[in-house]
Amino acid sequence: MSAPDFSGTRILVVGGAGFVGSNLVHQLLAQAPREILVVDNLLSSDMANVPADPRVRFVYGSITDDRILAALPADLDYAFHLACFHGNQSSIADPLGDHDNNTLTSLKLFDRLKDIRSLRKVVYAAAACAVAEKTYDTASATTEEQPVTLYHDSPYSISKIIGELYGNFYFQRHKLPFVKARFSNVYGPREILGAGRWRGTVHTVWRNVTPTFVWRALNGEALPLDNGGNASRDFIFVEDMARGLMACALRGGPGEVYNLATGRETTILELATLINEYTGNKTPLDLRPARDWDRSGKRFASTEKAERELGFTARVTIAEGLQRTVDWTRGNADLVRRCIAAHDKMMAQALSQSGAS
Ligand SMILES: NC(=O)c1ccc[n+]([C@@H]2O[C@H](COP(=O)([O-])OP(=O)(O)OC[C@H]3O[C@@H](n4cnc5c(N)ncnc54)[C@H](O)[C@@H]3O)[C@@H](O)[C@H]2O)c1
Repeated sequence: MSAPDFSGTRILVVGGAGFVGSNLVHQLLAQAPREILVVDNLLSSDMANVPADPRVRFVYGSITDDRILAALPADLDYAFHLACFHGNQSSIADPLGDHDNNTLTSLKLFDRLKDIRSLRKVVYAAAACAVAEKTYDTASATTEEQPVTLYHDSPYSISKIIGELYGNFYFQRHKLPFVKARFSNVYGPREILGAGRWRGTVHTVWRNVTPTFVWRALNGEALPLDNGGNASRDFIFVEDMARGLMACALRGGPGEVYNLATGRETTILELATLINEYTGNKTPLDLRPARDWDRSGKRFASTEKAERELGFTARVTIAEGLQRTVDWTRGNADLVRRCIAAHDKMMAQALSQSGAS
């Protein structure tokens, strides 16, 4: 019997216009699916990410919308749940917005999917940052068995854990074939600064550290380093992440959790230095104190279980991945500029409505 693949299948990608979701959609298309249904409310993304392909059907709206849920096809083969309220700072500024788009989304989606018996797998984008041990000294690889704290730094982090808890419930009670993919820090093409709507804080424009640094470096700006840049992360290129998600769908065990990571630790100082090198940015680094909400100094993830059970290993080195991210950003500078400008306008409106200067 041949190994399962996605050919001829009907796939739901919730949050499929987003950074990781759209890269997943692009890779799935190469595997001859029958249809990919993307549901996205463009809260933190742009339509430019959605491929114009007759096999992709885009539904604009929130996955919490009962009409959208009711209209989901009864013969879905796979579902990927990547919607979230991006990101940590936005969730601190607007916890209720986070609840609506990061907690309720998971609950309503899983409750609907439990009735779709054709589903072979439901893959959930879980977050390693929500489980990683907080350390400032020497990090050890976070395994899938890491105990989860009841004290989280952000509503975003709480919501990501709640998504795991609800999925586990629907797996145990309703046999939903639920698989958790715990993401480390993803970077790469299609992470568009400023994409989407105002989410309560100036930080929403800047998204994660890599696209922010790449953009600033391309514009000759100083890269800001909180706490001397000695924090570390496990950076995984988005193409590898999409392959890992597909491996979870095809080979993941229902009820299981897998880290999708490289197993390698890179400090923010190393990241900034490489980005300055690849962009030719000569402006010196800008050293700053630690951010008040972020208490996770150093971390990386264990990749053993994903290697052993999914046959998944990240392939792209940080050097190659960053070069490809810089190239993509250069090639899409107009798109990024448009999204940042739209975001600035929304921010000015929001601030004037709230009476702030
Ligand atoms: N990027 C990372 O480093 C990282 C790390 C850990 C976990 N994750 C998780 O991976 C997933 C994808 O992250 P990303 O970086 O691509 O973020 P993203 O913001 O680019 O993608 C999220 C997508 O969900 C959409 N969305 C938000 N609310 C929605 C709703 N109510 N209904 C339908 N769509 C909705 C957004 O518009 C966006 O397109 C998220 O669940 C995130 O928590 C990402």
